[in-house]
Amino acid sequence: PPTNSQMEGNCVLRRGNCRAKGGSPGFKVAILGAAGGIGQPLVMLMKMNPLVSVLHLYDVVNTPGVTSDISHMDTGAVVRGFLGKEQLEDALTGMDLVIIPAGVPRKPGMTRDDLFNINAGIVKTLCEGISKCCPKAIVNLISNPVNSTVPIAAEVFKKAGIYDPRRLLGVTMLDVVRANTFVAEVLGLDPREVDVPVVGGHAGVTILPLLSQVKPPCSFTTKETEYLTSRIQNGGTEVVEAKAGAGSATLSMAYAAVKFADACLRGLRGDAGVVECAFVSSQVTELPFFATRVRLGRSGVEEIYPLGPLNEYERAGLEKAKKELAESIEKGISFARK
Ligand code: NAD
Ligand code: LMR
Repeated sequence: PPTNSQMEGNCVLRRGNCRAKGGSPGFKVAILGAAGGIGQPLVMLMKMNPLVSVLHLYDVVNTPGVTSDISHMDTGAVVRGFLGKEQLEDALTGMDLVIIPAGVPRKPGMTRDDLFNINAGIVKTLCEGISKCCPKAIVNLISNPVNSTVPIAAEVFKKAGIYDPRRLLGVTMLDVVRANTFVAEVLGLDPREVDVPVVGGHAGVTILPLLSQVKPPCSFTTKETEYLTSRIQNGGTEVVEAKAGAGSATLSMAYAAVKFADACLRGLRGDAGVVECAFVSSQVTELPFFATRVRLGRSGVEEIYPLGPLNEYERAGLEKAKKELAESIEKGISFARK
């Protein structure tokens, strides 16, 4: 069967008459690792996003099948597939937003840091491609360990002379999604009404939910605070163990990634007041990277919000988080500088 691009080549499509109706310019989005466990539901949800005009699917395996399948959805975005390293540059050229869920996931008993040896190299290569082909793109980095892969990406971009810290964001949205869900369960609320800031990083104790700043304002007993903090910090492990060797969170992650990508695109469009948590270059603490609430705009991260008032439990959590984060950040930087 002809691929989407072959159809266009055969001139059976009436050019200029079939796409991007409604006058919205739309954004060009590439997903690297598009055929994976996160990649597939992520491309499906991005194909449904009206802010996306062009969707590039890149992977080292299986992109033709996923692209063919997704391209039959009757939504506006034009879908194109790219397979293997020799097609990486075509996949990236002209992109406004690049989302990276490429890399291996955890199995039971592993930490996210155990993925470093494989995923660090994958992220480095993909970021070299971004430096060359779409240096102005916003990058949403999902591949673990996020606490190290974001510093790796920053070093690659610095080396290429294109680093703009506002455009590199580690995706910690799943921690917020989980926090909203678990807090809503305890409070007996609809999770859509709950907003929990989660700061720090994306692994174990570096995931620091600020339960004293939950909206709507509420208070928790010590037992509730300990239960919620532990459940949020171990949410990823909970899924890894339940999947029993078949990978880590993919569906909730794809949901979180799309929620975050949509916020980035609304920022790029110029919408006001787009605020989400993300792991970014930051001066909120003494560490070079830290996750906090950030305001997203046309340049990416336009404002980084301070931590706000922390209670004693959170201050102790912050010290533990910073200790582990410092090591993970340093590990990423030294890998990239090698
Ligand atoms: P998966 O194994 O199902 O899919 C990964 C995909 O990446 C595969 O299709 C694979 O072919 C592809 N890939 C491998 N090397 C590549 C390369 N060099 N270029 C492009 N693609 C490549 O894994 P998954 O469950 O989708 O998870 C992917 C990553 O996301 C893992 O590192 C996982 O730990 C991480 N993750 C992060 C979060 C988060 O909150 N940030 C949440 C869940 C998972
Ligand atoms: C998650 O939080 O679900 C991801 O980081 C995947 C993992 O390994 O836990």
